[in-house]
Amino acid sequence: MEPRERIILALDVSEYEDAVDIVRRFKGHIDIFKIGSELFTSVGPRVIKEIHLMGKKVFLDLKFHDIPNTVAKSALAAAKLGVFMFNVHTLGGYQMMKHTAETLSGFSLEKNVDRPRLIGVTILTSINQNALRDELGVTVRMNTQVKHLASLAHRAGLDGVVASPEDGAMIRSRFGKGFLIVTPGIRPSWAAMDDQKRALTPRKAVQQGADYLVIGRAITSQSDPIGALMRIQEELVDL
Ligand code: C5P
Repeated sequence: MEPRERIILALDVSEYEDAVDIVRRFKGHIDIFKIGSELFTSVGPRVIKEIHLMGKKVFLDLKFHDIPNTVAKSALAAAKLGVFMFNVHTLGGYQMMKHTAETLSGFSLEKNVDRPRLIGVTILTSINQNALRDELGVTVRMNTQVKHLASLAHRAGLDGVVASPEDGAMIRSRFGKGFLIVTPGIRPSWAAMDDQKRALTPRKAVQQGADYLVIGRAITSQSDPIGALMRIQEELVDL
């Protein structure tokens, strides 16, 4: 994969104009933009349509988590918007994921369009080992639980998972090359850590197995954002 295809730029803003302005500035260098719940809840699907009009792809990061019927219908709505990729919580269970994957396949066959990449979120990185046990009541080790949920997603027909850079290698070795790994928590060696605690550099993350890197502030908060993006892409050239 080319470096420019790997980087997903996070549109972590709430105003339509701000989001569109970022896409305009980066569209010569980035193919995929991430819309999360802040932006989507604030402005709705019109921002997706505008990004598509600019010839770019959307990763809709809404992390659906509900009963199978509701998630499958939300997935259909996302597919009709033409997003390239979106995600669900694997904690919604096997039936939910399977029904959603099948609904998407049916839609893409019927419409003769590509199925959006369906990605599973395992355990949020804001949950640590103690919270997993004390708050969620899960007594196994974090990496055992992540492996279990990734395996469920794989079996249910999902296209991949969101994974911390540290889990990348384990997931790649277990599920092989076709299973996509989408990795946030990326920090080049020259960028501030902000609130990310277990970040890896872009190069390390890809070496650990990541296909796509979700990056926000390490690009957008720099004094020269395009220059920062170029430096990151250079790091990835030979991978
Ligand atoms: O600015 P930064 O690169 O930290 O932003 C990363 C993006 O990835 C944000 O949109 C954030 O919500 C998201 N994210 C994350 N860590 C996770 C999951 C998602 O930073 N574990």
